[in-house]
Amino acid sequence: MTADRYSIPQLVADLRRIRAETADEHRLLAAVRPLALRAAEASDLWLEDRMLAPDPEQGFSLFPLSEEPDHTLAVFAFSWLPGRGTPPHDHGTWAVVAGVLGAEKNVFWRRRDDGTRADHADLERVGTKVFERGQVLAMPTGVIHEVRNETDAVTVSLHMYGIHINHTGRSKFDPESRTASPYVSRIEC
Ligand SMILES: [Fe+2]
Repeated sequence: MTADRYSIPQLVADLRRIRAETADEHRLLAAVRPLALRAAEASDLWLEDRMLAPDPEQGFSLFPLSEEPDHTLAVFAFSWLPGRGTPPHDHGTWAVVAGVLGAEKNVFWRRRDDGTRADHADLERVGTKVFERGQVLAMPTGVIHEVRNETDAVTVSLHMYGIHINHTGRSKFDPESRTASPYVSRIEC
């Protein structure tokens, strides 16, 4: 078994081991980063043709690759249509994303409010990062970002989360209207 044949089951076994070994999120993220890279490099083991045609309504598609019975350690293939993306959002858990096909732009935001008003969020833009194959983005719980595919082709990335993102009560944000609302994504079968 070589590094470029690192499978999703191997990744999940390692995620379970890392989670059992450390409760510290930054240590966990540091340990998961190289594994996400290896699993992305072995995309021939999990990337299917159907994943290259994202949902035109949502602008992107999530394909579940693995999930524990309690919705933890969720792994997805994400694909994005050209010119499409997400609103600013949080995850309600840690997230690690590895580039697979094409370049994806991440815009990072920070809350200026204290989060005590349920539907209100005052965001300021704090940075951007474009990543592609061979690169990994690790986001601790609480990070707010949006993703844009500004290329002219479908992009794909491999995502893993501490908890399935439709089970964390996460939010999406509108910086213009300074509002926050529940964010649930459609998941492919
Ligand atoms: Fe995200």
